[in-house]
Amino acid sequence: MSAVREIPTPRETSDDAVPVLEVRDLERYFTTSGGVVRAVDGVSLTIGRGEVLGLVGESGSGKSTVGRCVVRLDEPTGGRIALKGTDITHLSRRALRPLRTDMHLVFQDPSSSLDPRMTTGQIVAEPLRLHRLVPKSGLRARVEELLGQVGLRPEHADRHPHELSGGQRQRISLARALSVAPDLLIADEPTSALDVSVQASVLNLLADLQRDRGFGCLFITHDLAAVEFLADRIAVMYLGRIVEEAPTAQLFAAPLHPYTQALLSAAPVPDPTTQRARERIVLHGDLPSPLSPPPGCHFHTRCPVAVDRCRTDVPELRELPGGRRVSCHLVDSGRPLDGRSPANSSPSGV
Ligand SMILES: Nc1ncnc2c1ncn2[C@@H]1O[C@H](COP(=O)(O)OP(=O)(O)OP(=O)(O)O)[C@@H](O)[C@H]1O
Ligand SMILES: [Mg+2]
Repeated sequence: MSAVREIPTPRETSDDAVPVLEVRDLERYFTTSGGVVRAVDGVSLTIGRGEVLGLVGESGSGKSTVGRCVVRLDEPTGGRIALKGTDITHLSRRALRPLRTDMHLVFQDPSSSLDPRMTTGQIVAEPLRLHRLVPKSGLRARVEELLGQVGLRPEHADRHPHELSGGQRQRISLARALSVAPDLLIADEPTSALDVSVQASVLNLLADLQRDRGFGCLFITHDLAAVEFLADRIAVMYLGRIVEEAPTAQLFAAPLHPYTQALLSAAPVPDPTTQRARERIVLHGDLPSPLSPPPGCHFHTRCPVAVDRCRTDVPELRELPGGRRVSCHLVDSGRPLDGRSPANSSPSGV
């Protein structure tokens, strides 16, 4: 992108105007025996204080890799990450440690992220001890308070993760996250490993906590209903790149990118009065391999409205009025997009 804004120089600040997270041109390439996998290929995003950004896109589009890079569980191969104005892209583990209270990752599968040998009380207390947030004598009381905030009882502190249900385990993950009062929570598919019957209650809990505590949140999900419920803005990823970003209501009301249109058209609409007057757009073919992404617009191989230019020129992620961004030559040309139209086979270009 041409208009890349510089990330401010490192500083400690509580200035509300400084975004809690700023990611610029993030790249994560994996070198494998089959070649270079461009899992994340130039992603820029910003999350303001107390704001929820939803990150959606089909499996393999690079969502989790973005989340893992942000919390530095994975090392970016390019680009920059700033947490509350501090560039953390290349901070050492040691230098990163004090910032661990500023951001926290909640994983998809709570059973793999909770140590089975520890009691849930120990799990929740661990960050409090590590960062010396509470004196030893006050640990138990604080843990019980945190358990209460996620809808669990004091006696849950003495159980082990395997004695709890999936929903209760995810509540423990949230209690652990809350213990450090982070300014940024990365939630990667926090409910998708849970029974459908408990997904809504965990999602409601996350929404309540987010509203009460006011942390910024990167909410990674496949679940369009969940993201519509929780997110202020939504970014749509396709093959390592963001193809569209918009405030939630606008994205659902009028998706601009053909990929977003297809993605949303596949989602059930609960309320027929707000029926989005759009037929289901079926995408043909699988997501191409990130080992050899198509040239031009990555989406052109599956796009129902692609024209010649889309096969050769990479569309820029352009800023539009109303805080929207979209990367599509057809939107740039001002041509109204309608996913129902058959592919324009005329070779006239745009
Ligand atoms: N350690 C790794 N080595 C090689 N390739 C990797 C590695 N981690 C991820 N990838 C590849 O990077 C791409 C993006 O993966 P990622 O897990 O970020 O996608 P995702 O959008 O989170 O998918 P899902 O919705 O299934 O969770 C995939 O093609 C994946 O195979
Ligand atoms: Mg993932």
